[in-house]
Amino acid sequence: MHRPETEEDPQGSEGRGHTVPAAWTHVPWGTDSRSSSWLDDLILRLWLVPLTRKKVAQIADTYDFITRAHVESVAGLARIAGDIAGLRPGEARVLECAAWLHDLGKSTSDNYLSILFTPRKLDYDDENLHQLMIEHAAQSENRLDAMGYALPLTLRLVIRNHHRFLVKAGSLRDILMADPDFNSLPERKRKEVVRILDVFMVLDALCAYTEASRPSNWFDNIVFDRDVIAGKIKKRYGDVFQSDVGALVQALLDHPGARKILERNTEHDPAVMARTMKEWAEKTSIYDVNYVLILTCQIDVLKEGSDLTGFKNFLSHLASPVFSVILWEKWAEEVFSEIVVASLENKAIHREIRAYLLTIAQEHPHSLFAGVINKYI
Ligand SMILES: [Fe+2]
Ligand SMILES: [Fe+2]
Repeated sequence: MHRPETEEDPQGSEGRGHTVPAAWTHVPWGTDSRSSSWLDDLILRLWLVPLTRKKVAQIADTYDFITRAHVESVAGLARIAGDIAGLRPGEARVLECAAWLHDLGKSTSDNYLSILFTPRKLDYDDENLHQLMIEHAAQSENRLDAMGYALPLTLRLVIRNHHRFLVKAGSLRDILMADPDFNSLPERKRKEVVRILDVFMVLDALCAYTEASRPSNWFDNIVFDRDVIAGKIKKRYGDVFQSDVGALVQALLDHPGARKILERNTEHDPAVMARTMKEWAEKTSIYDVNYVLILTCQIDVLKEGSDLTGFKNFLSHLASPVFSVILWEKWAEEVFSEIVVASLENKAIHREIRAYLLTIAQEHPHSLFAGVINKYI
């Protein structure tokens, strides 16, 4: 799992001994000719300085291990996207803070995490899913309140509405437009919130699409195609965007720093996979699935002629040494038998998977997974 650059807490008060993500400290504070809201920037700055110095490591440490990796990549993109999207310095700062804080609520309950553990690809007409997304956003805000932060309203609204939709009876309701706090703002501030959210939702969805280690993406062949990605984002949120989603996606794909983050996302992290399998072996969620059912369902939807690139990437990471440390032979046998049995339905895919498993066993003869493959094939 990658970590952002870090630096020691310069004041060494409550943060002593922790490291502070550079994202919190390296944003330039200088004035900018684009800025027409210097007072907001000042308030935000005054609010962020104590947060930066004292609490950020503590906040980041409260994430569960899957969501922590996610917010790190969203924050990495946020550092780049403010400039690309032409946000003012204060807006860019809110974007970056929202990236770090937005999913705090997701770590409070397995039900919120279950968004990552759906048996099939997320169905965006699923009211249950939308409810979970809206609730975890509200829980993020609640958690920050409970921790004693007086959130600036702009940041609060971005966190609260970071999944800006609600499906009711087949139609989309825009929860931002129905938010009384949003509607209490002057027009200039409302436009600011909308501008930031437009960018934020693209970054959040782009990360969700590219993160190979999240269980719902385990077998995916993730392609960097502007139209495919923009289409998925619009499908996810409906037509709430007031900016050109495709253009922002393309600009991020073309930016070397953003591209590096996204490409790193597409590499499975075997430690995250192994830990997910271990911790979710017995758990069930609101979708009532554990990782074994996810394996079965994802294999079930493979069709003859499917591009198995993502699936093979997933399989090859099962031979990583970290699996031998975190898991045990009983687990390896369970995963192996799920893969073999579930693929029996489709002879061509079964043959290809079987051949690939033998390749893995040859290439990683000392791995836990190779031992199981050699035992049963
Ligand atoms: Fe979220
Ligand atoms: Fe998120």
